[in-house]
Amino acid sequence: MAFSIAQLIQARQDEQYDLHLRYINPSFARVQRIIGFDKTYVRGEGAYLWDAQGNRYLDLLSGYSVFNLGRGHPTIQQALQEVIALERPNLVKMDCPLLAGLLAEALVKRMPPGLEAVFFANSGADAVDTALKFARAATQRRRVLYLDHAFHGLTLGTLPANGGAQFRQGFEPLMPAFDAVEMDDLAALERELRKGDVACFLVEPIQGKGVYIPRDEYLPQAQRLCRKYGALLICDEVQMGMGRTGRFLSCEHWGLEPDMVTLSKSLSGGYVPVSACIMRRGLHDKVFNRLERSQVHSTTFGQNDVSMAMGLATLHVLDEEKLIERAAVMGEKLLAGLAALKDKYDMVLDVRGKGLVVGIEFGPPRSLGLKAAWAAAEAAQKGLFTQFVVMSLMRDHRILTQVGGPDVNIIKLLPPLIIGDDEVQAIVSAFDAVMAEAQHLTGRVWGLMGNLVKQAVRG
Ligand SMILES: Cc1ncc(COP(=O)(O)O)c(C=O)c1O
Repeated sequence: MAFSIAQLIQARQDEQYDLHLRYINPSFARVQRIIGFDKTYVRGEGAYLWDAQGNRYLDLLSGYSVFNLGRGHPTIQQALQEVIALERPNLVKMDCPLLAGLLAEALVKRMPPGLEAVFFANSGADAVDTALKFARAATQRRRVLYLDHAFHGLTLGTLPANGGAQFRQGFEPLMPAFDAVEMDDLAALERELRKGDVACFLVEPIQGKGVYIPRDEYLPQAQRLCRKYGALLICDEVQMGMGRTGRFLSCEHWGLEPDMVTLSKSLSGGYVPVSACIMRRGLHDKVFNRLERSQVHSTTFGQNDVSMAMGLATLHVLDEEKLIERAAVMGEKLLAGLAALKDKYDMVLDVRGKGLVVGIEFGPPRSLGLKAAWAAAEAAQKGLFTQFVVMSLMRDHRILTQVGGPDVNIIKLLPPLIIGDDEVQAIVSAFDAVMAEAQHLTGRVWGLMGNLVKQAVRG
């Protein structure tokens, strides 16, 4: 019998959650059921997903920013089909593949001055690992500085630079010589750099977990301090790069000239994994410094033709459709619409963002009755109120979001860069409606508390 993915999917679609319960990650599958996210999505296009019943959902996660161009973009699909149909000799390994060279050239053109050498890898963590290895080799120093709240991946090499205790717990001892510094504290950064043993300062210019944005002077001054003390500045642009914040790289908002930049996620247009670490030629040469060391750092699937073709197609679409400019314009509208809710609802503490990344932070209400409910929710689990908002957005408005990190009352929105006024309007009115409902203890938002407890007990 001929193999058909379409037939296989049709025959087994209903089993997706059971298969995960049995073979993959039962805890995660249970969470989806408990919070009402156990949908059967059968189609994705643009900014939307459709379930088996034909319901449409607005996707504000975008695969954690993989789908900056939206799902199923025709140019990306065409490039994918074309590169396969060409039957190119992919992954020969002992050659220098053309498409990798072309994508490297295209990326270098978009980098701040001086970043001229590219290493291709497969995931965000893989690119950050590369940056850390190269920083150590180039500086002959060991120590890595990173920011509180940072997220650079979950591999053993990136976990020690993770600012979230929950991610680290249970995996100790982590690699030594990684030290956290607080965002906006230049004195603390200088104290560490002055010791003269810091290889690099690894930083997301805008932090994904919690959408924290540094004060305007922080990053330029941090760069100056890194230069002064001989440490490298690495900008991790895995999530905020590729146009998300209204610039190709988020570090452009401060005119930074980092020594290395990491990219991943949306670079592939969403179909295949890809990542890149782009750095100064001198740093690259320090690693590959002799002919016999020309493969001292590599990864089997790096430079594969499919990922490279997707990267080239993605850059083309970003330009053709002016999506970076669009992210800036639509981002301002979204931010303004959501920020207005701060005046209306005391539980909306802060709304912040740049381009199309927006963080909405919630805090305790002023009214006595609600205050007690908030305290009870926080005591049960930190960030639980925000989970109610996420669940309400899904249940009542078919909008897909997520709590923006462990133990925080923050929702992070990462819509695709293609959204327009209709989507902005839908997002703002959905939040408005959910927050209006949350003003009433007997409403459906707080009603989720009882349901959650019941389901958790049952689960
Ligand atoms: C800034 C940043 N760096 C690195 C990573 C790790 O990427 P991956 O999950 O592809 O390993 C992420 C993932 O979200 C990220 O946001």
